[in-house]
Amino acid sequence: MKNTVLVFGVTGRQGGATAMHLQKAGWKVRGVSRNPKMENAKKLAAAGIEMVKGDLDDPESLKGAFTEVHGVFSVQNPWITGLKKEVEHGRRIVDMAADAGVKHLVYASAGTGDKTTGVPHFNTKVEIEESVKASGVPFTILRSASFMELMRDKDFLPPLVMWNVMPKIIGYDFPVMWISAVDVGAVTAAVFNNPKEYAGKELHLAADKKSVKECREIYRSVYGKPPKRIPAPAWLFKLMQKDLYKMFLWMLEHRERESIIEDTRKIHPDALTLEEWMKKMKEIDYPSPAAVQDF
Ligand SMILES: NC(=O)c1ccc[n+]([C@@H]2O[C@H](COP(=O)([O-])OP(=O)(O)OC[C@H]3O[C@@H](n4cnc5c(N)ncnc54)[C@H](OP(=O)(O)O)[C@@H]3O)[C@@H](O)[C@H]2O)c1
Repeated sequence: MKNTVLVFGVTGRQGGATAMHLQKAGWKVRGVSRNPKMENAKKLAAAGIEMVKGDLDDPESLKGAFTEVHGVFSVQNPWITGLKKEVEHGRRIVDMAADAGVKHLVYASAGTGDKTTGVPHFNTKVEIEESVKASGVPFTILRSASFMELMRDKDFLPPLVMWNVMPKIIGYDFPVMWISAVDVGAVTAAVFNNPKEYAGKELHLAADKKSVKECREIYRSVYGKPPKRIPAPAWLFKLMQKDLYKMFLWMLEHRERESIIEDTRKIHPDALTLEEWMKKMKEIDYPSPAAVQDF
């Protein structure tokens, strides 16, 4: 039986965590990176992940990657590639998975799964989801809530976005659903382990619900000081980051079902609460996705 899962975005947050949890569960993991010589990729190779060089802009570079693969984990980041390429890359993975006869494709999406949100980086994901569903490849779609990493990961500019602009737009007391990208990896491993249970499902994931004010209090109690804030006006953010601005406005209108926390815990009972996650971050001195393997 084939027991290899091909993981895209393996040097990143969700892909790195997925690789780690799949490996723990006994799967062989092949990870794709444009640059297997970068620090993150070398760490993954040292941890036993088979790293292959591949670029979603260059389909030829990916042909070998799909050989003898049972499953595929697909994630794109439109902030790296742009929205058009996000769709192109997501569809490319679907097509190559179908051609290779892959038995299970897990697609890391976000949003609601329909185009009613008006949020550009949710709409692109709906387009990829449509291709996933039409492909004939058994699939599971994951729709994660906001990542807890928004509070610590330097890629997300937490002093500016999480601790300043976001509460200016949604308010300090507005309840937000959260999940750690590391737990998305754990859920993905559970999904590959139980295809009968999860194939064909669209799973909304969250492990905690906290306002920015509560997040600040937790941060202060764990780190002994409040998080740094870089002041910037919301109107400037609106000009620079239209997509995220729209998402924050959408969050205000869209109340996520509280039951998704319970549902997520049915799949992964140990999914971290915000306080547990924050304590863990302090323990490992989390600087970037590179630390996922140390988690
Ligand atoms: N932030 C949130 O709160 C949140 C919540 C839910 C969902 N999401 C969604 O999560 C997604 C991002 O996931 P993430 O944070 O796990 O991503 P990430 O950590 O930024 O990782 C992105 C990965 O994409 C790979 N990549 C980029 N261009 C590539 C190309 N041309 N060919 C092959 N690989 C390429 C990179 O690998 P190499 O550099 O090694 O090639 C990298 O490992 C976004 O779609 C976002 O909308 C975010």
